[in-house]
Amino acid sequence: MLRIEALEAGYGDSQVLFGMNFEVGVGEVVTLLGRNGMGKTTTVRTIMGIVRAQKGGIFLDNEPIHELPSFRIAQRGIGLVPEGRQIFPNLTARENLIATANRAASNRSNGGSAAEWTLDRVLDLFPPLAERLRSMGNQLSGGEQQMLAIGRALMTNPRLLILDEATEGLAPLVRAEIWRVLERLKAEHLSILVIDKNVEALTRIADRHYVVERGCVVWAGSSEELKAAPEVQRQYLGV
Ligand SMILES: Nc1ncnc2c1ncn2[C@@H]1O[C@H](COP(=O)(O)OP(=O)(O)O)[C@@H](O)[C@H]1O
Ligand SMILES: [Mg+2]
Repeated sequence: MLRIEALEAGYGDSQVLFGMNFEVGVGEVVTLLGRNGMGKTTTVRTIMGIVRAQKGGIFLDNEPIHELPSFRIAQRGIGLVPEGRQIFPNLTARENLIATANRAASNRSNGGSAAEWTLDRVLDLFPPLAERLRSMGNQLSGGEQQMLAIGRALMTNPRLLILDEATEGLAPLVRAEIWRVLERLKAEHLSILVIDKNVEALTRIADRHYVVERGCVVWAGSSEELKAAPEVQRQYLGV
């Protein structure tokens, strides 16, 4: 579904991605692992068209998307839960959820077979949000903001959901809640790209993993292979 090919990108003169390669298949849950500063968020920003690819390509259903503007990439069916959540602080939780939802119509015509995401379905996935709909974004707890960020991405009816450090800084119980939701989305055959530090949870949920070091993939394998490779975890992840 998504294929990243020999991708190079960066900020001004400072190159961050040096030939990044990986794939996410339909219905797969795939991770990008690696220490801070290795280029995972830059990869995500390049996929979303926020940072421009300098070389290489990004293909969605075999079609190049690396020259499209961000809103078109979102319309093609990629939903991002960005690092740091980026909730609109002065909108209510409800407004945060529906702010981007009008993209749904174009995504649906894009051949998505899954049921359409609605406010009710998001609240069913995250019951605590139901009582907070009238609260402003900046009044929500970290966990509530994260649920809101995931709900907001789902409201665009993505076929591929990207989560960048979605459990960072959250209490263990809230974190577990996020993992539960990912498992549920996986069961609904959503394709998911996850960036996170919790290798143990990820080996339980994800199908395949890519380890990123200085802007390129240095190791790839299944959850079984990653569990059986403590030296990979030590060398590249500091686990
Ligand atoms: N907006 C920016 N401008 C310049 N350099 C940046 C910017 N964002 C990130 N970088 C640099 O790019 C490198 C990769 O960062 P990032 O993609 O955020 O890594 P990761 O998500 O793996 O922690 C780091 O050296 C970081 O300092
Ligand atoms: Mg990052």
